[in-house]
Amino acid sequence: MQFSRFPRVRLANLPTPLEEMSNLSKALGGPRLFVKRDDSTGLGFGGNKVRKLEFLMGEALEKKADTVITTGGVQSNHARQTAAAAKRLNLKPILVLRGEKPKLHKGNLLLDTLLGAELRFVRASNSEEADQIAYEIASQIKQNGGIPYVIPTGGSVPTGCLGYVVAALEIVSQIEQKGIEIDYTVVANGSSGTQTGLTLGFKALHSGIKVIGVSVSHSKEELKHQILRLGNQTAGKLEIDTQLDEEDIVVYDEYVGPGYTVPTRECIEAIKLLARTEGLFLDPIYTGKAMAGLIDLIKKGVLKKGQNVLFIHTGGTPALFAEEEIFQDV
Ligand SMILES: Cc1ncc(COP(=O)(O)O)c(C=O)c1O
Repeated sequence: MQFSRFPRVRLANLPTPLEEMSNLSKALGGPRLFVKRDDSTGLGFGGNKVRKLEFLMGEALEKKADTVITTGGVQSNHARQTAAAAKRLNLKPILVLRGEKPKLHKGNLLLDTLLGAELRFVRASNSEEADQIAYEIASQIKQNGGIPYVIPTGGSVPTGCLGYVVAALEIVSQIEQKGIEIDYTVVANGSSGTQTGLTLGFKALHSGIKVIGVSVSHSKEELKHQILRLGNQTAGKLEIDTQLDEEDIVVYDEYVGPGYTVPTRECIEAIKLLARTEGLFLDPIYTGKAMAGLIDLIKKGVLKKGQNVLFIHTGGTPALFAEEEIFQDV
């Protein structure tokens, strides 16, 4: 796979560590468990989006953009990482955030404020509507002579997915060096870019590693459709023959609970367990739910003793500091 023809700016500390979680494996009596520390990509408190932003910002710079606009929820990790990357590259970040402006800026929103990002709180019932608002802001900027670059929700477009195809290469090389084999990778799915890039990358490399996505918001039908489309667009961009088929795509939507951003009891339990067994912090919106899924899949015997499972820690931990109240009685 040829990545050199795509514009890319180095923003992440790579490779991120791949560590064994033996205390957690012991506590769960299940498979050997490993964690890919993409919470440690470095920039602006890190997280998975920094990998996507290397290619997205590469494209923005190639287009001579002066402003980067993206969208997300009020506690969006993606928006925070985009604002940090924009500041690093001397671009102006505008964040279109779905929801009311809260009295107190906590967690990611506090960091967005420190970064000096321009914040626009909007009423939008879904990410498509928020993206639409971002494009409207972009056309106003253009009329005033600026050069805007819009990153649609989550950076889950083929350019962003390249970051996780690269991550698949990185993981395959790390496990070869460590002399281990991985059967399954478990990852949180919000807007699908991370799962798509990993699935495509592992398949193109004939690694045999299967990816299990744990949805934090959408139904599995929606996500499977999205991954298939995005995966094949990304393969087209890379000019590789690998195509994703339905059987390559595994998504569980049973762990969403009452809704996106609402932590379930199992999510809170998973966050506690990881802190107390591995000294590792998960987040209440994405990785806590993905870990709750992994734990349940062990209980159900889908993930078994004798297998090796890699959990992708996609970051999001600043959101812990916007949710202190749910952790008071734990
Ligand atoms: C911490 C965290 N994990 C996982 C994801 C999901 O990634 P994707 O949108 O590529 O599915 C996000 C997206 O915002 C995130 O912030």
